Amino acid sequence: MKNDSLILEEFLDNAFNLKLHLMEFFSMKENDLDGFLANAKINLASLHPGDALSNVSDFYTDIVGDRHVADLAAWHITSKNYICDTLKLQQRFSRDLVLDFGGGIGTHALANAMSSKVEHVFFIDINQTNRKFVEYRAKELGVEKKLTFCESIKESQISKFDTIVCLDVLEHLADPASQIDVFSEIMDFNSVALFNWYFYKGEKNEYPFHIDDSAIVEIFFKTLQSKYIEVFHPILITTRAYKKIK
Ligand SMILES: C[S@@+](CC[C@H](N)C(=O)[O-])C[C@H]1O[C@@H](n2cnc3c(N)ncnc32)[C@H](O)[C@@H]1O
Repeated sequence: MKNDSLILEEFLDNAFNLKLHLMEFFSMKENDLDGFLANAKINLASLHPGDALSNVSDFYTDIVGDRHVADLAAWHITSKNYICDTLKLQQRFSRDLVLDFGGGIGTHALANAMSSKVEHVFFIDINQTNRKFVEYRAKELGVEKKLTFCESIKESQISKFDTIVCLDVLEHLADPASQIDVFSEIMDFNSVALFNWYFYKGEKNEYPFHIDDSAIVEIFFKTLQSKYIEVFHPILITTRAYKKIK
C-alpha cells in the first residue's frame, strides 16, 4: 500500500505507467503511440452516428473499439493536474467497498486500489476493451487482488457500497436520473458518492455522445435534489460529494 501523496506523485509523473501499458496491451511501438493519442478526441467524435443511434449504450459497446481508451488516455495525460485533483478528492472520501461506475482507463479505480483505506474496488464499465485494459494494468501495478471487473453493478453482487465514484459518466447515459436513483439504493447513510456531469455537446459538437436534452437534465437535477445532500469539500468545484438523504 502507498501513502496518498506518493499515489498522487506517481500519477503526475507517469499516470501510473499509462504509456507503457498502452504500448504493451495494444502491442504498439513507441513511435506509434503518438499517432494513437493524437487527435483522439476528434477521432472518437467522428465515430458517433448522431441521431441514427437508437440505443445510447451501443456507442460504448459496439462502436468505440479502442478509440475510447485513446481518447481517455490522451485526456488524462494532457489534463493531468485536473485528473490529479479528482484523485485528491477521492482520497478524501474513499473507504472500504468502492464502486467505480464507468471507470474508463482505470486511473481512479487503480488509485483507490492502492489506498490502505480501501478494502476492494468494483470496476464497472460497459466497454469490454476498457475492462480488459484496466485488468491488465491492475496486474502490472500489483493491485489486482483489490479489484473486480464487471459489466454491470448487478454482476458485482454487492448490495451496499461505502463509496461510489462516477466521474464523467452521467452525461453518457440515456437516463442519468435513473442511474443516480440506483446508486442511492446501494448506499448506506454514511456512504459517499462523487459525481460530476457535463450535459453539453460542446461548442463545435466535440462531444456528440453527451446527453443535453433539457427535459432529461431537469429530471436528473430533480432526482439529485430529492435523494442527495451535498457534502462540502474545498478541492475542486466541478465534482461534488453526496450523501443520501435520510
Ligand atoms: C468519459 S468516460 C469516463 C471514464 C472515467 N470515469 C474517467 O473519469 O476518466 C465514460 C465511461 O463510461 C462508460 N460507460 C458508458 N455507458 C455506461 C454504462 N451504461 N454502464 C457502465 N459504463 C458505461 C464508458 O465505456 C466509458 O468508459
